[in-house]
Amino acid sequence: MSQAKKLYIKTYGCQMNVYDSERMAEALGASGYVTTDCADDADMILLNTCHIREKAAEKVYSELGRFKTLKAANPDLRIGVAGCVAQAEGAEIMRRQPLVDLVVGPQTYHRLPAMEAAVRAGARPVDTDFPEEDKFDHLPRGPRAKRGPAAFLTVQEGCDKFCAFCVVPYTRGAEVSRPAARLVAEARDLVDRGVREITLLGQNVNAYHGAGPTGGDWSLARLIDALAEIDGLARIRFTTSHPNDMREDLIAAFADQPKLMPYLHLPVQSGSDRILKRMNRKHSAESYLALIARLRAARPDLMLSGDFIVGFPGETDADFDDTMALVRSVGYGQAYSFKYSARPGTPAAERKDMIADDVASARLARLQALLSDQQRAAQAAMVGRTVSVLFEKPGRLPGQMVGKSEYLHAVHVTDPRAAPGTIARVRIVSSGPNSLAGELA
Ligand code: 5AD
Ligand code: SF4
Repeated sequence: MSQAKKLYIKTYGCQMNVYDSERMAEALGASGYVTTDCADDADMILLNTCHIREKAAEKVYSELGRFKTLKAANPDLRIGVAGCVAQAEGAEIMRRQPLVDLVVGPQTYHRLPAMEAAVRAGARPVDTDFPEEDKFDHLPRGPRAKRGPAAFLTVQEGCDKFCAFCVVPYTRGAEVSRPAARLVAEARDLVDRGVREITLLGQNVNAYHGAGPTGGDWSLARLIDALAEIDGLARIRFTTSHPNDMREDLIAAFADQPKLMPYLHLPVQSGSDRILKRMNRKHSAESYLALIARLRAARPDLMLSGDFIVGFPGETDADFDDTMALVRSVGYGQAYSFKYSARPGTPAAERKDMIADDVASARLARLQALLSDQQRAAQAAMVGRTVSVLFEKPGRLPGQMVGKSEYLHAVHVTDPRAAPGTIARVRIVSSGPNSLAGELA
């Protein structure tokens, strides 16, 4: 291998993209690339993109425009677009932005080294296949880097739910679960490299049904139990889940599996049955609330998070009030809320009963005010309590260390004993806008 070339990756969107960016960096590591935090001196820039809402997709084009001067200064600079915009738009990206050299979808980035070589030979490759082979089995491996204490592990990809607003079933494809034995091996490798907490990722992660080592499919709960047997792995989380795939054994895991953390991201999208039906969610507000009750019966301190869409076509004031009522009755620790964005190719994009933008914005503001009140209240309720914190990295202030509590709150502690990778009991003394502060107990 010749001298190291520099790779700058910018990641948009969800945690799966964060994971994929790491895998792409490893794959190109085998071709002699090392990552850099600065686009200015890069030999290759990759944008790992998100297509979930229009704003996310448009960001890619404005970012690409900014690279014009870099490419003028360095004609050898290669620019690639990866991820879900790449999948959705393919070669169109190169037509719209001619400085793009390669386009690679989320299912084919194991082919990046070959594509990079093709680019150097003067080609402009586009690969948005959904190949038969599993990209994870074909990823070239660069040097095994040491890892931080918290890592992601993709266990499932794609989605068969087809919510009417969502591009995921088209950009990420059909639901595919990775075999359990491979995941256990990958988790062991992460733990060997210093990882103490693993978040299992999937667009519809609780639909996981991967091949078990001795035949038969494993559920997500079964996989979690197997991972929990790895010495040195202290914490397990998973995201994102669909209410209809929340099986009995997974609910029970919140009671029975001590390594499974008491935090669950369980999007509901709307509190109105009329809108849920139009969204093709296949559950009602009531069934969601009943599910939450069962989860809380298993784990009374479970911290809940969710996703909401306001201004879905046809949403009336009464529908929106139902969403507000659902939020009040659940009490979220944290949540994400969005204005509906019509995505080309999805069934909802065909609807004519669009909601006026100012109406949607007003609803979003009301919902976000309620959700941030709940978030503040959930954080304030931690003050005086003792939580367990996995320290991850230094904070902004001298001597300060930041970690996550079991409830996924960021916790700051200033104490030389709080070393990255260690887990300690911490008494919470105050609550700030986005984090808690505490002292070792
Ligand atoms: N418009 C607005 N929000 C959307 N989401 C998915 N598709 C859309 C869309 N077309 C939101 C959902 C989902 C989260 C990842 O993004 O709330 O759970
Ligand atoms: Fe999209 Fe999630 Fe619905 Fe699947 S379950 S279609 S990823 S919103």
